[in-house]
Amino acid sequence: MSDSSFRFCRAVSEELDPERLQKKFLASLLDLQKVERGSIWVKRGDGYQCVEAAGSQSEKIKGLTVPVDRPSIVGWVIENRKMTVAEAGKDNRHYKDAEIGLTLKSKLILCFPLFLRDGTVYGAIQLIDTSSSGNGLNLDPAYLEPLQQLIDLGSIALSNSLIITDQQLENAKLKETLEAMRGRETIIGKSVAFLKVMKMAEDYARTDFSVLITGESGTGKELLAREIHRLSNRRDKPFLAQNCSAIPDTLLESELFGYEKGAFTGATRDRIGLFEAANAGTLFLDEIGDMPMHLQARMLRFLQSGEVKPIGATTIKNVDVRIISATNKDLRETIKRELFREDLLYRLNVLPLHLPALRERREDIPLLLDHFLNREALKLGIPPKKLSKDAMEYAMGYPWKGNIRELENFAKYISVVVSAEVIRPGDLSIYLVQDQDGMPNVATAVWQDRIAASDGTPPAPPLFDGRSWEELEKAYALYLLEKHRWHITRAAKEAGVNRSTFDARLKRLGISKAQSTKSRG
Ligand SMILES: Nc1ncnc2c1ncn2[C@@H]1O[C@H](COP(=O)(O)OP(=O)(O)OP(=O)(O)O)[C@@H](O)[C@H]1O
Ligand SMILES: [Mg+2]
Repeated sequence: MSDSSFRFCRAVSEELDPERLQKKFLASLLDLQKVERGSIWVKRGDGYQCVEAAGSQSEKIKGLTVPVDRPSIVGWVIENRKMTVAEAGKDNRHYKDAEIGLTLKSKLILCFPLFLRDGTVYGAIQLIDTSSSGNGLNLDPAYLEPLQQLIDLGSIALSNSLIITDQQLENAKLKETLEAMRGRETIIGKSVAFLKVMKMAEDYARTDFSVLITGESGTGKELLAREIHRLSNRRDKPFLAQNCSAIPDTLLESELFGYEKGAFTGATRDRIGLFEAANAGTLFLDEIGDMPMHLQARMLRFLQSGEVKPIGATTIKNVDVRIISATNKDLRETIKRELFREDLLYRLNVLPLHLPALRERREDIPLLLDHFLNREALKLGIPPKKLSKDAMEYAMGYPWKGNIRELENFAKYISVVVSAEVIRPGDLSIYLVQDQDGMPNVATAVWQDRIAASDGTPPAPPLFDGRSWEELEKAYALYLLEKHRWHITRAAKEAGVNRSTFDARLKRLGISKAQSTKSRG
């Protein structure tokens, strides 16, 4: 059988994919024994499962599990670590239920154990004769011995491919973890409203036209802009972002357009602007509604001609940049107040995209919460927290005025502050408290006590119910620190204590910036 053995070795050694390898392995053995029916079984939990089958009606066998506590030939071979021959229907080890519904019954079954390199048996392979005479299998011991050796070879190839697949899966998981830790954001949602936006984003990504993304703060405008870039054929080129608000006009101008050496005091060297740096890529302009008028005029010129002129330069540069801008303002209103140019709006708003508020797509809340809680758990090295059914119901009914950003902060906060794995409604009340303006946050929770006391009504009990002094103090301290971006003096000032007292409290509560930034990424 040297030629066929060679073909067998070749077939099993060149295949790395376990599924395909199993198929080839079985087919080559059936070919050697010149029978049609065969199957591969592995031990899984409390049964032996058929992972591959060949021959007529093999689909009825593949996936079948034989319970360990029922007699079966595969079970016997796996547990006794020996090859066997059995007459189907007569041998009391035969698991007859497997043959129910098969038109062609098995006659004689030859079954070999599958060994791993370390000598353990992980499964069995069956080669079955279905001919009426039942003499189609070559049972000559001089033939069966080298056959077992070939099966050992195939078995090792199969276990190697399983190890490789496991490693590949592990690598993919590690990569995902690393990306999550590096902050590469995945965009998540399944609501109809969200999917509609994603579909539009995909369509827009295929063009170079300007996109204007509108939506409340924290709805994911920047994330969506990145997604459009990632889906476009500019994906390998830069994606640069600039927030047009909270930056002095002159600085914004030099950031966007760049300058030449000597253009103004302090311009000691040439500096390219974002338009040029983003050449062939995408420039994201956040809070476009806050762009000062004189820059709007320059911006319009760029959109009309694709030309930019750095400050102080005499020559013009041509750049190819796709503009995506975003705003949470009503630009029509801003135009009415003569703070925004209508002609610029037309140029920016060629492809409009509106992101609905989170409360308009509540089906996304559980999905997003799960995602953020898992991410925080990964960063903190703790088991992921889950919301109990009634806590989730509360979270789904909550207004989330700060949208996804608020939900994300809530997940960070709860991961640090609540030590139980299952978050109950009582745990939420410390964070998710709504005041008259619907401004929900820790401060509201803590100050509610004082507000309530000032008008004579007693403080809202659910907030403090079942909560320790330390938990409340920790929540309050973390809130102040987040609010003042870890500027301890400012946080201490708001708390009405001096810095060293505040510092000492943080130490006692075990709060440190390192620990918190670890959780915030
Ligand atoms: N669909 C989503 N899936 C997962 N994370 C999201 C999603 N949308 C937003 N986020 C996350 O929520 C946070 C806020 O998103 P982003 O900064 O894009 O919002 P924004 O609309 O630009 O907010 P602002 O108006 O305040 O600038 C980010 O951390 C972002 O990663
Ligand atoms: Mg933004």
